[in-house]
Amino acid sequence: MLWKGDLVQKSDVSVSPDDRGYVFGDGIYEVFRVYNGRFFEKAAHLDRLERTAHGTKLKLPWTMPELSELLDRLLEKEGTQESILYMQITRGEAPRIHQFPKDVEPVLLAYCKDYPRPVAVMENGITAVTLEDIRWLRCDLKTLNLLPNTMAKQEALDRGADDVIWHRGGTVTECSASNVMMVKDGVIRTHPANHLILHGVTRAFVLKLARQLELPALEKPFTLDELANADELFLTGTTVEVTPIVAVDGRPVGSGKPGTVTRQLQRAFAEAIA
Ligand code: PDD
Repeated sequence: MLWKGDLVQKSDVSVSPDDRGYVFGDGIYEVFRVYNGRFFEKAAHLDRLERTAHGTKLKLPWTMPELSELLDRLLEKEGTQESILYMQITRGEAPRIHQFPKDVEPVLLAYCKDYPRPVAVMENGITAVTLEDIRWLRCDLKTLNLLPNTMAKQEALDRGADDVIWHRGGTVTECSASNVMMVKDGVIRTHPANHLILHGVTRAFVLKLARQLELPALEKPFTLDELANADELFLTGTTVEVTPIVAVDGRPVGSGKPGTVTRQLQRAFAEAIA
């Protein structure tokens, strides 16, 4: 593991009860993907981390090239081929006060976890339920405050589905740990990258693939009614790549089978990471 700048064993990590990540969820994170022992879209993740640090006024003591090198060292040490690399940075350790404490050192933790591509799920698709999006208005910041996300995921499972599709007053936003795209009459639609969704690295990559494949794609909000009439739906995310959604609220999406646009994007994605 990478802990406060050093490569150590997990048993050597001890989190302070004063860590603001622990007490307030006052920290930021990234989940990187490793394919064939190499980072996928590392620069885009580091860019988003920098934006999140700026947006939460968390002053990082490392430059992005320095962080990038630390992550390279971690990956080399752990030697994983198909994995995710989780990294979080909390604001630091200080007695519990709400305002930002002065002179604290941010605390960095990162580790790799083996993570094979979810081929069966990508082949068969998942089911989802719709749920009001009750999160704050800076969903573009990737912070440790994931209680609404964990609650939503659990509610989906409790209702017999695999994930949620969130909406704000009828406008579809995203899912608990991924972005969502719909296809209608051959046109891909997804929520614009504003403060209401996380600007997914996979989302941007898939939109780029769509352009290369000359598939029309619009970053334009869509409603629950449009969702219900979609021909195809799919998720995009670091852990799910491009995963079809085959049923929403107990009703089949289109034919109830993963659609042709989804399949085209999955193929293009697989080629791009090979
Ligand atoms: N989640 N939306 C939300 C709310 C997310 O948490 C994530 C990623 C995404 C997709 O972003 P990306 O394509 O950059 O992974 C969208 C990570 C994987 C997680 O929290 O585990």
